[in-house]
Amino acid sequence: MAVLDHISSQEAMALENKYGAHNYHPLPVVLSRGEGVYVWDVEGKKYYDFLSAYSSLNQGHCHPKIVNAMTQQAQRLTLTSRAFYNDMLGKYEKYATEYFNFDKMLPMNSGAEAVETALKLCRKWAYEVKGIDLNKAEIVVCENNFHGRTTTIISFSNDPVARKNFGPYTDGFIKIEYDNLNALEAVLESNPNIAGFMVEPIQGEAGVYVPSEDYLKNAKALCEKYNVLFIADEVQTGIARTGRLLACDYEDVKPDILILGKALSGGLYPVSAVMSTNAIMNVIQPGNHGSTFGGNPIAAAVAIAALEVVKEENLAEKAFHLGELFRNEMDKYIETSTIVKLVRGKGLLNAIVINDDEDSDTAWNICLALRDNGLLAKPTHGNIIRFAPPLVMTESEILDCVSIIVTTLKQFE
Ligand SMILES: Cc1ncc(COP(=O)(O)O)c(C=O)c1O
Repeated sequence: MAVLDHISSQEAMALENKYGAHNYHPLPVVLSRGEGVYVWDVEGKKYYDFLSAYSSLNQGHCHPKIVNAMTQQAQRLTLTSRAFYNDMLGKYEKYATEYFNFDKMLPMNSGAEAVETALKLCRKWAYEVKGIDLNKAEIVVCENNFHGRTTTIISFSNDPVARKNFGPYTDGFIKIEYDNLNALEAVLESNPNIAGFMVEPIQGEAGVYVPSEDYLKNAKALCEKYNVLFIADEVQTGIARTGRLLACDYEDVKPDILILGKALSGGLYPVSAVMSTNAIMNVIQPGNHGSTFGGNPIAAAVAIAALEVVKEENLAEKAFHLGELFRNEMDKYIETSTIVKLVRGKGLLNAIVINDDEDSDTAWNICLALRDNGLLAKPTHGNIIRFAPPLVMTESEILDCVSIIVTTLKQFE
């Protein structure tokens, strides 16, 4: 079989099943094309993408401006490694740091790598600036967090499926309840070795949990009081997804360390970054950290174009407006629904909670029926379905999607 030969959905799934590790449980649909808010399967059926590769495709599939930036750059210079300078990285660093209002950035590839970078940066700052005794630094994280899949990151996960049989785990993390300022203050007050507090402004993977009003602002104030770095993981919430450029912007909070990924490339390429102040970032010196592909010229060109699209197309405002519309329409249905308990979220990062046991397969079956009706979404945990379409939707498209979702849910009443 030649690589470009057309294959059926069944054949594609059989190949992955036989030759690929079984580390995912995909919805049975095989996609071969995407444009804007739509994807098509190999048999030509068209769907709304209501997941956006976990909030990576905020700018929509194959955005022409980003594709053009990528293909132009791919024909000129793709990779230098950081052994040499290239003529794109500095431009990208200037553009992106001014865009998010930080002094400096450190470019990486995946979200998990950026999280690792932030943790290393925070620890080094703790020893060299804050003055914590060597190897004593601790970083506070939240229960039910999701920050990625590396050995260190799963060390402070409390998802048994992500952790089991991957030990020994990395020390130096303390878990507290999410959205609980008393718990944060208690740990900061009692432990002088805390270097940082890392938090998702909305817990996406856990099921789109939006914290109480002013949680981030008050958490940041506590961090300032105890000289602890406030680290915002905006890999999923960032770059217009929640209706503001960053979810932290809702509370006028500026993180000491900001972690970005996913939509930083509009879903074309793995591009992530950590942003911070000079005072913090300057603890990193040559040889301390790096990545062969981090900050490569294609990533730089793609990220600049992806960020330009967010501004040019007012994606944050769109996400805000369409999100309100979506939740209002869903609430009208939920008032009388027996199958959906609630909808929650901000901007176009939303979830519905299905009225069934957490370990039931109802949410999965609803996603199968949504697929049959032309819309792709996936359960996050058990009975929760996340809805995160590209932000380039129109009002009539989102209403069409609501109609597909409601019609489908009614089949389960
Ligand atoms: C908040 C958050 N951080 C980090 C990650 C990890 O990103 P990646 O899958 O690119 O490693 C994710 C992925 O979903 C995420 O949602």
